[in-house]
Amino acid sequence: MTASAGDIAKAAEVLRSGGLVALPTETVYGLGADAEDPAAVARIFAAKGRPPTHPLIVHLGSAGQLDDWAADVSPEARELAERFWPGPLTLVLRRGSRVPSEVTGGLETVALRVPDHPVALQLLAEFGGGIAAPSANRFGSVSPTTADHVRTELGDAVDFVLDGGPCRVGVESTIVDTTSGTLSVLRPGGVTSESLEAVLGRPLAAPSATPVRVPGQHPSHYAPRARVVLVAPDRVAAEAALAQDQGHRVGVLLPASAPDTGIKAHAVVEVPGSMADYARGLYGFLRGLDERGCDLIVASLPPEADLGTAIANRLRRAAGPRQSS
Ligand code: TXA
Ligand code: MG
Repeated sequence: MTASAGDIAKAAEVLRSGGLVALPTETVYGLGADAEDPAAVARIFAAKGRPPTHPLIVHLGSAGQLDDWAADVSPEARELAERFWPGPLTLVLRRGSRVPSEVTGGLETVALRVPDHPVALQLLAEFGGGIAAPSANRFGSVSPTTADHVRTELGDAVDFVLDGGPCRVGVESTIVDTTSGTLSVLRPGGVTSESLEAVLGRPLAAPSATPVRVPGQHPSHYAPRARVVLVAPDRVAAEAALAQDQGHRVGVLLPASAPDTGIKAHAVVEVPGSMADYARGLYGFLRGLDERGCDLIVASLPPEADLGTAIANRLRRAAGPRQSS
């Protein structure tokens, strides 16, 4: 199942010739291209149906490459890189001269991370350069956490899929902006704010206090086909029954705290009580409810601490108003 040395060599060759490779990371699967090849980067946007102004993350093989891709790296940014890379942390930094503007959507900043997955790290080592990669899903939809999800979603639009098994973290990386003097979390993710603050020794700007400031941070994102409705944990069963009675095919993400006694719904997923397990399963649960034909998903938010913060953020966005374009 997991990619062989031959697969890695082939994937590196595809990247060198301007193609697209889907690669496993510890968070979600990415759709990768040579970050220094603007034509290859343009193919990413076409394959995803993503507007070209939405900046991409550049994946690097080690923290030692930081100064090749970014300029004016602050001591705090360097400390976070050294402490959390490889890992699910993306740092927004001043862009270095080798970063094409196609990657940054014209911004003067660049998002960088070193993924913590053996297959991704082997590919990065073999390829040598940076790999620009958004999540390997169609624009706005749920990120893939298995190679099968990628194949189902992108099919022939990707030249080669490296299979690294199911993703360990399951939600995307935490994005921290280091370019505006005060560090702020642009997207909660696999590294918790609590652990960032423990390393920095001071609080970060809260994610909810950060306004939408770059493309790619729309309210509706990470969304399954089914509409998502969020209610209080003790209202899940009643809301599901009501909607089912109204003729919906209701899928339920049942909180671990709620008893699964006679829930009236088309499909019920009992979510794990452990936030790490919930995060790992989240996108698969949403995809599964879509596949079972649900048109409405009733869910509640987990406690918003540690990894629960990232899960709640994705559920809110899944429930957000859908884009018309
Ligand atoms: O875990 C992850 O981060 C996954 C894996 C594949 O690494 N990647 C991922 O990429 O989630 P994507 O493209 O789906 O999300 C990248 C986010 C977008 O919301 C984008 O706006 C933000 O990163 N971003 C990229 N460059 C930025 C920049 N220069 N300034 C601010 N935000 C940026
Ligand atoms: Mg994405």
